[in-house]
Amino acid sequence: MNFVIAADYNALSSAAADRIESLARAKPNAALGLPTGETPVGVYREFARRVRESRLPLPLGEGRGEGLDLSHLTIFVLDEYLDVGRGDPRCLADWLDRDLIRPCEIAPGRVHVFDGLSAEPTLTCAEYEAAIVEVGGIDLQLLGLGPNGHVGFNEPGSRPDSRSRVVRLAAESIASNARYWGGPDRVPRYGLTMGLATLRQAREILLLVSGANKAKILREVVEGPMTNDVPASLLRDHPNVTVMADREAAADL
Ligand code: PGA
Repeated sequence: MNFVIAADYNALSSAAADRIESLARAKPNAALGLPTGETPVGVYREFARRVRESRLPLPLGEGRGEGLDLSHLTIFVLDEYLDVGRGDPRCLADWLDRDLIRPCEIAPGRVHVFDGLSAEPTLTCAEYEAAIVEVGGIDLQLLGLGPNGHVGFNEPGSRPDSRSRVVRLAAESIASNARYWGGPDRVPRYGLTMGLATLRQAREILLLVSGANKAKILREVVEGPMTNDVPASLLRDHPNVTVMADREAAADL
């Protein structure tokens, strides 16, 4: 496990954006797995800024080096609520679309999303796995950390060999996601998520963690036992996983 500890949220967002930018420059058609949630918002904001600035005529755009073009990346959205479709304010694919896909002009055809309205969600999940294989696997998987140790909707109890599937959200996740949607009653009870085995197959994983409220769970992830009860702990023996945390989140390590 590698560690990058940043002074604050802005420095954390920039450090993660730096890593992803360097991958995108080395491999413009790289495949990224990307989460929603509050933690990665700063990374996406930073990308939108970098892409915008790289298009400014010199000298305003000076210092950003060669123009930054993210339009050839392939994106896999990490998870989605079941029974929630595009246009629903809770749709996670729409959230990523607003924050990253549109500002960075990534071609919609290169963005893979779980169809939350699928009549056959199990088939949808199998197709998601097949689409990942078809592009040659995920080069970099960015993840946030749930307050109960979940990654994506891999809730406590998830197995390391789990694949993309429908899951029932844990009470703690419903409580935590309630802040996005105006109350727990607005949070769907089920989700579709990439599985832990799917995440572990990414060539590189960045686990992004911010804020004092994540300090205790980050310590369990890093220093506690590797256990299904703390799903993110099951990423620990991945050959190329980096915990990127700000000082507040890293305070108990
Ligand atoms: P957050 O969510 O980034 O909004 O804290 C993380 C998660 O629950 O996976």
